[in-house]
Amino acid sequence: MSFLTLENVTHHYFTKNNYTKALEDISFSIKEGEFVSLLGPSGCGKSTILSIVSGIMKHTSGKVLLENKPITESELAIGYMLQQDYLFPWKTILDNVLLGPIIQDNVDSDRINKAKELLQEVGLKDVEDKYPSALSGGMRQRVALVRTLITDPKILLLDEPFSALDYQTKLKLEDLVFKLLHAYQKTAILVTHDIGEAIAMSDRIILMSANPGSIAKIFEVPIELRNEMPFLARRHPKYQSLFDKVWEELNKNEPQTV
Ligand SMILES: Nc1ncnc2c1ncn2[C@@H]1O[C@H](COP(=O)(O)OP(=O)(O)OP(=O)(O)O)[C@@H](O)[C@H]1O
Ligand SMILES: [Mg+2]
Repeated sequence: MSFLTLENVTHHYFTKNNYTKALEDISFSIKEGEFVSLLGPSGCGKSTILSIVSGIMKHTSGKVLLENKPITESELAIGYMLQQDYLFPWKTILDNVLLGPIIQDNVDSDRINKAKELLQEVGLKDVEDKYPSALSGGMRQRVALVRTLITDPKILLLDEPFSALDYQTKLKLEDLVFKLLHAYQKTAILVTHDIGEAIAMSDRIILMSANPGSIAKIFEVPIELRNEMPFLARRHPKYQSLFDKVWEELNKNEPQTV
């Protein structure tokens, strides 16, 4: 059964004197537990799709269904992780992690224990009472990941969560996110500019083109790569041939500038 479905979704942004056709006729579906990447040039509408799926923004036309229900009814089922961690500097790490449950007035000792457990699981020990300024960028992104997981969302939306990190930290976090999302059998959509990251982390890659944002091609990642942790998938013999195919398709859709 399809878990998330987008059917002929179109989105226009209206400004005072103008409008932008951000998405045109987007249709795809995602199965429960699947990890899908949205890959494509700047401005092709990747973040717009995530905003629509999260229920933050209403699309202009078409259908968006999560478990066969319109997305607006299932808003709380969504976890969002962004390029910036948006941790509150004046709150401790534990309070930052528990932000969702605090807003929902749903904090009890089970939640607090779960938060501590998850922090341990992402390799953050003895940080609960610290403030975000005491942590590195990679550690802060791990806190943001725990904050996203603590509400047990049905689907995770990851908008370039690794792009502000140095390369080594990014590779380590890719492995961590992959391991956790598979362990908790979470459905996820990852937005990325990085072909390698999309191949190493996903089951499928939805390649988009711009003006207006539309789907250019959908790639299935071979099972041998899907079964490997991202770091090892990047070294698998099948990695390079898929990289070349995606690269070729991306270049077909982008103006030649070099
Ligand atoms: N709030 C807004 N008002 C008007 N136009 C917008 C708004 N947000 C996005 N757009 C336009 O819609 C299109 C898609 O934007 P979007 O941010 O979804 O692209 P993206 O693929 O996420 O790009 P990037 O890779 O740079 O993050 C772009 O042309 C952008 O300029
Ligand atoms: Mg974006």
